[in-house]
Amino acid sequence: MVLCVCEAIGEREVDSHIDRGVSSVRELKAACGAGGDCGACVRELHERIRSRRNLSAVELQAVR
Ligand code: FES
Repeated sequence: MVLCVCEAIGEREVDSHIDRGVSSVRELKAACGAGGDCGACVRELHERIRSRRNLSAVELQAVR
């Protein structure tokens, strides 16, 4: 599913950047351009970063 229509960037690409350490929309914008044009996707990108990073924290706790 495309998350940023302006830059044609989908969930997989966004998740890949998050998994490599991107922790804000600003960083995501710098990494791939998502959210850097009309801004309509910024809220969704922010939520995806937040939820995926939380998931990672939970997963990390599970293996400790
Ligand atoms: S939809 Fe992402 S910047 Fe326009």
